[in-house]
Amino acid sequence: MPGPDATQPEASCGTCIRLGVATRPGAALYRNGTTGVVTCQDHLPKATPSRPVARPARVPVQPWAPPAQTPSVIREALPSPPPLPGVQSVPPPASGGGRGDAIHTEGLTKRYGERTAVNGLSIRVARGGVVGFVGPNGAGKTTTIRMLMGLVRPTAGQATILGESITRPSRYLDRVGALIEAPAFYPALTGRRNLRALATLGGHGAERVDDLLAQVGLADRGDHLYKSYSLGMKQRLGIAASLLSDPDLLILDEPTNGLDPAGIHEMRDFLQSLGKKGKTIFVSSHLLSEIQRMCDRLVVLRLGTLVFQGTVAELEATSTAIIAVPQQPAQAGRLVALCKAAGHAATQRDGTVTIQAPDAWCAELNSKAMRAGIVLRELRPHTFDLEERILDMTGREAKA
Ligand SMILES: Nc1ncnc2c1ncn2[C@@H]1O[C@H](COP(=O)(O)OP(=O)(O)OP(=O)(O)O)[C@@H](O)[C@H]1O
Ligand SMILES: [Mg+2]
Repeated sequence: MPGPDATQPEASCGTCIRLGVATRPGAALYRNGTTGVVTCQDHLPKATPSRPVARPARVPVQPWAPPAQTPSVIREALPSPPPLPGVQSVPPPASGGGRGDAIHTEGLTKRYGERTAVNGLSIRVARGGVVGFVGPNGAGKTTTIRMLMGLVRPTAGQATILGESITRPSRYLDRVGALIEAPAFYPALTGRRNLRALATLGGHGAERVDDLLAQVGLADRGDHLYKSYSLGMKQRLGIAASLLSDPDLLILDEPTNGLDPAGIHEMRDFLQSLGKKGKTIFVSSHLLSEIQRMCDRLVVLRLGTLVFQGTVAELEATSTAIIAVPQQPAQAGRLVALCKAAGHAATQRDGTVTIQAPDAWCAELNSKAMRAGIVLRELRPHTFDLEERILDMTGREAKA
């Protein structure tokens, strides 16, 4: 697969990308000074305060605001879970790499000066179903998605979307719908008119608009002005817009932002129904709890680096352990060695030993410890909260 195309601009019109159309050659690009969203002159909302940027030169990068702190939903864990068995490796691609996959990346990397936003990311997302892309604020989710959509050029590595290299976005964008951060709509138009305008611009035909409004639960608000919409309604209209082209792959960046629990529930049902129809939905979130139940599979990032990819069930399987506390704390080291000799990863902290083994191994551990002269004053199975597990993988100290 060829490397990144040196002629690919650093940024493109976000609306064109979403519509799956090529930006008109020679059209000026504008950056919204507040949101940083880049728009070509054909898609420039009248009310948007913008400043022109040169084309085809790279769009200058705005100063980056520090991301919000990771919400307090992520709590201190006691005791510490045992180390992960390791990231599931991505097998090397067959010739034509990842042709059958919705998304396939190899060593995908993006550096901004000294900062590495995404670090050698190798993931494989098979087609069909809902896949969660999880990591705390600043983990590199949006940067990855921007690279996949051809909005940002990778520093290193390669990727394919629906079998096509990301160096040639025009070959796959008409089959990909995307919602990246806040969607851009005309505030003074209704939701329905906004969708119709986008459908016309994208050459998709407006006949699906009413159906899409109904699918995202906006049928009775479709004739209200966009500016009157709540954040959740705006997100849902964004998803409807990303579905205008009836894409095979839907990439949604934090679509549950601003949704209340009922809205998240509705979104889960909706995305799952799309997944069952054979579409692939790649959905990012910094909160596992919000998307855990809508996903079949997970990709987890920590500080730009992959720490887990696999099914939710596989992640859950790594979240059970046995806690054993020897009567004499000095014997904890011997107990760890005994567990390791039996083939189970084990760690100790302050005299408490955490063993990565199924509940059923408790009885055997008890008799092994007795034979070794180690008296246990506590022995119990333990299930780690999945959010805790993710935090353990992504690092409690993880900050942008
Ligand atoms: N244009 C940029 N210039 C400089 N640094 C950037 C730029 N874009 C992203 N970064 C940095 O790259 C890192 C990853 O950012 P990114 O937005 O991809 O994270 P994220 O996982 O989407 O976070 P969040 O959950 O807050 O949306 C952060 O440290 C961020 O500050
Ligand atoms: Mg983000």
